[in-house]
Amino acid sequence: DWVMGDYITEAVQKIREQVGDEEVILGLSGGVDSSVAAALIHRAIGDQLTCVFVDHGLLRLHEGDMVMDMFAGKLHAKVIRVDASELFLGKLAGVTDPEKKRKIIGGLFVDVFKAEAEKLKASGQGHKGATFLAQGTIYPDVIESGGAKSKKAVTIKSHHNVGGLPEQLGLKLLEPLRELFKDEVRELGVALGLPHDMVYRHPFPGPGLGVRILGEVKKEYADLLRRADAIFIEELRSTLDADSGKSWYDLTSQAFAVFLPVKSVGVMGDGRTYDYVVALRAVQTSDFMTADWAELPYALLKKVSSRIINEVRGINRVTYDVSSKPPATIEWE
Ligand code: XMP
Repeated sequence: DWVMGDYITEAVQKIREQVGDEEVILGLSGGVDSSVAAALIHRAIGDQLTCVFVDHGLLRLHEGDMVMDMFAGKLHAKVIRVDASELFLGKLAGVTDPEKKRKIIGGLFVDVFKAEAEKLKASGQGHKGATFLAQGTIYPDVIESGGAKSKKAVTIKSHHNVGGLPEQLGLKLLEPLRELFKDEVRELGVALGLPHDMVYRHPFPGPGLGVRILGEVKKEYADLLRRADAIFIEELRSTLDADSGKSWYDLTSQAFAVFLPVKSVGVMGDGRTYDYVVALRAVQTSDFMTADWAELPYALLKKVSSRIINEVRGINRVTYDVSSKPPATIEWE
């Protein structure tokens, strides 16, 4: 609509004034905020923006390809895709403590991003490298970082909106979404031409599947979990609630599968199986501080369970998490 159109014109003008003829680097995560920030900044300054997408090996199924298709393919933005999965999985080997896992993932993310920024500078492709670091910081993040917050919140923001990184890199900050609420960021994303499904996505934690694989993270576990999770999300998206006409994806605030590294016995044909367990989690919440488990239709749960067990060899049992927050948290770690 024209109101958003005016907003974009103004925001684009402001970004151009602030950046001038300098270069900007941005960490693209696939999440809503960094995606909308990237689309807006790209609209303003085109190839003066370089996006860095770090694949830590703990992303959802086809996530990396989807991000590349959208930003490099459709928007023609400069995107560097860094496959750092071996590095991350290597450093996570043998680590079981959730907060240690978070620290390792967050720390490596900063290292990898810094290395890319330095490389870009050294390559000197007609420029002196980026002088701005762009971040998808939104208004609630700004408020949050003023007040007291949980340990987890600190980790969250130190991961994506990389705390201290601008100083370490000697970069100026560019945060064009700083004054917007989440709903406004979403509207802006749609107005910039990003697909509805990307802009209305559930939140995904920075450490990704790293905190959805309980205990030690292994590639084998991540591969199984990715496939189970994709089936769950696909069914949530395609199952409509008769009353509201909305999909169960849109009726839940966050939904995902969790990998439990325990084996249980099952039967398959004439044989006995001894395989891993997956838990499904779906919650409804307005602020993520408290949350109710979602009363998904039995038919939906039934379909998801049978698809996962039939399609993902290595998983023979699916459970549904009926714990609310508090006392449980949304994530299992
Ligand atoms: P919990 O599990 O604390 O989650 O109820 C509340 C919200 O925060 C997200 N979350 C994280 N996001 N890094 C993130 O970027 C993290 O380490 C992290 N831990 C939890 C979680 O997905 C939920 O939306």
